[in-house]
Amino acid sequence: MIINTILENKGDLFPSKIISYKHEVDAVDFFTDNNVILRVTVLRDSLIRFRFTAKGYFSNDFSYAIDKTQSHGYNVLEIQDKEDHYRITTSKVYVVIQKHDCRVGIYELDGTTILEDELGFHWEECYEYGGNIVKMSKVSHEGESFYGLGDKATHFNLKGKRVENWATDQYAFQKDQEPLYKVVPFYVGLHNQKAYGIFFDNTFRSFFDFSHERKGVTSFWADGGEMNYYFIYGPKMSDVVTTYTHLTGKPELPPLWTLGYQQCKWSYYPESKVKEITGKFRELQIPCDAIYLDIDYMDGFRCFTWNKDYFPNPKQMVSDLAKDGFKTVVIIDPGIKIDKEYWVYKEALEKDYFCKRADGPYMKGKVWPGECNFPDFTNPEVREWWAGLFKELVAEIGVKGVWNDMNEPAVMEVPTKTFPLDVRHNYDGNNCSHRKAHNIYGTQMARATYEGVKRFAYPKRPFVITRSAYSGAQRYTSSWTGDNIATWEHLWIANIQMQRMSISGMGFTGSDIGGFAEQPSAELYARWIQLGVFHPFCRTHSSGHHGEQEPWSFGEEVINITRKFVELRYQLLPYLYTMFWQYVNDGVPMLKPLVYYDQTDIQTHYRTDEFIFGNQILVCPILEPNAQGRRMYLPEGNWYNYWTNELVSGKKELWVATDFDQIPLFIKEGAIIPKYPIQQYVGQIEHPELALEVYYKLGKEKSYVYEDAQDGYDYNKGRYSYKTFTLTGKEKEVFINQHKEGTYENQYQTIKICLKGLNFKITGIEIDNEKVSFESVNFVENSLQINKDFSELHIFGE
Ligand code: NOJ
Repeated sequence: MIINTILENKGDLFPSKIISYKHEVDAVDFFTDNNVILRVTVLRDSLIRFRFTAKGYFSNDFSYAIDKTQSHGYNVLEIQDKEDHYRITTSKVYVVIQKHDCRVGIYELDGTTILEDELGFHWEECYEYGGNIVKMSKVSHEGESFYGLGDKATHFNLKGKRVENWATDQYAFQKDQEPLYKVVPFYVGLHNQKAYGIFFDNTFRSFFDFSHERKGVTSFWADGGEMNYYFIYGPKMSDVVTTYTHLTGKPELPPLWTLGYQQCKWSYYPESKVKEITGKFRELQIPCDAIYLDIDYMDGFRCFTWNKDYFPNPKQMVSDLAKDGFKTVVIIDPGIKIDKEYWVYKEALEKDYFCKRADGPYMKGKVWPGECNFPDFTNPEVREWWAGLFKELVAEIGVKGVWNDMNEPAVMEVPTKTFPLDVRHNYDGNNCSHRKAHNIYGTQMARATYEGVKRFAYPKRPFVITRSAYSGAQRYTSSWTGDNIATWEHLWIANIQMQRMSISGMGFTGSDIGGFAEQPSAELYARWIQLGVFHPFCRTHSSGHHGEQEPWSFGEEVINITRKFVELRYQLLPYLYTMFWQYVNDGVPMLKPLVYYDQTDIQTHYRTDEFIFGNQILVCPILEPNAQGRRMYLPEGNWYNYWTNELVSGKKELWVATDFDQIPLFIKEGAIIPKYPIQQYVGQIEHPELALEVYYKLGKEKSYVYEDAQDGYDYNKGRYSYKTFTLTGKEKEVFINQHKEGTYENQYQTIKICLKGLNFKITGIEIDNEKVSFESVNFVENSLQINKDFSELHIFGE
């Protein structure tokens, strides 16, 4: 490993003075007299790329992270040659580039500083490997906060931390342990209530230091490659996050069942055990949509094979499970067993698809099956081949999802836990060593898997999950946070990791509910489920070495709590699906940390526990044993306690009492929360009827509901239904307006509306300006049932 700190380093080199510049379309190149070129590209008025080379020329511009389908365009791009600096102006910001040292500053049009270089770009020649260690340092301010960076298991606000990006199989990771499985070199800075973002698109091992080493300085650097970063102007954090998500891409809509509850363990086998587990879910009426097969379903851990002793007829089993509403998801690893009798190995060998050492031999390493070779997923031909391997599993056997594991890539029995650094990679035609390809390897495996599952699942939608990921992986896959531990501390970590992943563009993520290593107590498991149902990916998983971890393993009380919370998740499916739609379309994170929700309130800057699920539900998990409630912070606005319907005003700390079968949940005043009836699995009720829970507000509030066929691609042809409900509450009156977009026709005819928090007695109801009788709408206790296509509902009273 290269030990490198800016202060210790005396050998740093800096750009010297700028001698010329060249402006072509959206890019301006600045040339210094020591061969540095800075290329500033204006992608949008609020999205500017900075690319430096110290070699006098740029290498091929290639990135796995950037979504090539995104649209670019700006309103203004002006360049001015001033006495001691150049100034590039867009409609949102201006950039100053100092002539004598190439340092950069970015300002709002009124001159307010957003971000300024400290030392700016500098580098160190790396004699061991060749190339440079590329470095950047920026001024950071008193009171500035930092967020993002993917799966880091540390305080949500990264101020004062140093983090490392090197995808690592970090079994039973600890709080603050670095590095972890994923690499998302993107952070949001927040200063003076204004947010900006930096995405350092460099796949080499990289570091970020947020005033950990030097007060007043934020720095980031990488062991090779280019200083290549994108600056994103906010000033709202939500704009930074959505712009980053547009830049690195959004996923497709997953099939609705993937938002149901999923059950996993290492390992469920043989077939009778799998069926015992799925049967028990149905018997206890705990909703569940997916059952996972871990590595023991394979024959000697050979990918794309089955252990026929345990699973004599996989197709039959998968189909039996499907009849009972269970989708089967199987694991796949990158290590291919070296075995001359094994077809996958033989094919890859014949086609020369395995990664090679610098001197020529195939890279060899031990994983579950023993000695393995590893496909080079950075080679497009290899990805194509890998995708094809899923034909039998998906098209013939009927597996519905694939779980990519060990793709950091993990190697056993070596201190580095991964490939030797000299291993060669194709990198889509930009040949390189593992130093550059390591962090992207897992994403390219997940991508190849996604291509395969998508091809063979068609016309249904694919489902893929991965452990390792680099920025942009969200285009192909969901993820989980790897091998956590069954401790209270890890429940705290899981809560933070999911919020962090959410604002890092990778929202479809969950933790192993209950903890992977060790065994949770009944209380811990219950508390984890209560949080886990509010994470986009919701799966119990455990190593299986310490005992059982099914919901019924902890006694009657936990069964009931699990059922209650999983049922709530199933009721909230239309709400979840709607937040997914907003993520897929607009890059809006599904979980919103409090600082994201209200960055103007400094009380939120260091909050870690509470978050907004979607747009209108505030969740605050219980993270300690023996709790009878907890202190929490309620942000700006008025909120209804979900359990008591009591209205509480926000921007304050408060104590919320809860029983063991509750956690603090609050609904934003004015919200219209869509719910489905409880189902044991998605699709059990073919056309689940929508119910709307309306929380009265004096004033206006908008709510949204997305629905479609729940799977397939018809929604791309406009066959979806995206409804906007506008609630206007007045003294003793409520109006609800409905506006629908899309051509999908829901099969149900009526819609149930349940009004909460009314401070008046309803005396009259009008639908589309016509008065209706209470009987005609089955009016009972502030609930009514009306035709789903109403335009305006008017409720009044005294
Ligand atoms: C490591 C993964 O993180 C874990 O989830 C899985 O159960 C084991 N590998 C066995 O496949």
